[in-house]
Amino acid sequence: MSPKQGRKIALVGASGNVGSQTLSALLSQNIHTITVIQRPESTAEFPPKVILNKGPLDDEAFLAGALNGQDVLVLQLPRPVTDIRPGLIRAAAKANVKYILPVEFGTDPEAKIVDEFDHLAQKRETRKLVEDLGTSSWIAVVTNPWLDLGLSVGGWGIRVKERKAALFEGGNTKVNTSTLKRSGEATAELLSLPETELVKFRNRAFFISSFYVSQQEIFESVLRATKTTEKDWDVTTPTVNDVTKESDEALKAGNFMKSFLDKYYMTHLREGFGGDYNDKVDSKNLRLPEEDFDKVVAETLKSAGLA
Ligand SMILES: NC(=O)c1ccc[n+]([C@@H]2O[C@H](COP(=O)([O-])OP(=O)(O)OC[C@H]3O[C@@H](n4cnc5c(N)ncnc54)[C@H](OP(=O)(O)O)[C@@H]3O)[C@@H](O)[C@H]2O)c1
Repeated sequence: MSPKQGRKIALVGASGNVGSQTLSALLSQNIHTITVIQRPESTAEFPPKVILNKGPLDDEAFLAGALNGQDVLVLQLPRPVTDIRPGLIRAAAKANVKYILPVEFGTDPEAKIVDEFDHLAQKRETRKLVEDLGTSSWIAVVTNPWLDLGLSVGGWGIRVKERKAALFEGGNTKVNTSTLKRSGEATAELLSLPETELVKFRNRAFFISSFYVSQQEIFESVLRATKTTEKDWDVTTPTVNDVTKESDEALKAGNFMKSFLDKYYMTHLREGFGGDYNDKVDSKNLRLPEEDFDKVVAETLKSAGLA
């Protein structure tokens, strides 16, 4: 493999779920100059090696100044924070930033699922803006729903605390999923590629995967981690219509999170909707150690107080 290349990399959202993993993996490469751009009200702190640039994220002049001389801008902002994204992209173009990793870190941008959720379809606009401005290139990092974060918040159809598992149509469809740690590590490896390699990902997706598993396999691992058997659980095998109905009812009852989680995971698990990208995984070509599926599930449940 070719030697790694150090870059000037600016991160926004670096204290978050995937941002903190990306930052720590980039720092451990020890070849990059890292700048964190942070909103003024944030109290998150960073290691001394990080250059911290605090300022209003809706001020394009501030952003263009902060981005001056950067090779890469990585955006890892929360899903609902959409209003400041175009300004960040315009500022990056103004500052001649070569690569932008926009707010992705989820679904395959080409997948059928994109048209099922407004927040996924909106990401097209960001990529188009980068292309229209014509200065920077985007790279969409694809991880699919995170295994660890998903399990700790009742995603994947498995509510560990309530001992309820809704195995969608039997739970045998295989999909790709990534851990937060692997999402950060693989992103750092991507940004450390020599230019001749990195340029191949211009305006395309970069696919990360820790595991290629079915919901049934995730559930079996949860049983091992919780030292329970199926008899201890309320297990159902809902259809698309069942999940959709339950999700709509949850929304009507004001439970947005349950409504979203049920529909979101179910759609990734639907055959042909893009949750299976196993033939496109780029992270398998990186120098990263194998992860242990059962260990990840057990540690996730333990740290969430669920096992
Ligand atoms: N694959 C998955 O399962 C999955 C799940 C969730 C999200 N995602 C994707 O990953 C992206 C990042 O999500 P995340 O969960 O890592 O984000 P997060 O942890 O919720 O937030 C990231 C950081 O953004 C900053 N922030 C918070 N509110 C803000 C605001 N109103 N304005 C500006 N900055 C704000 C905070 O940093 P400071 O306090 O330092 O400013 C926070 O630590 C999402 O947009 C989504 O595309 C994927």
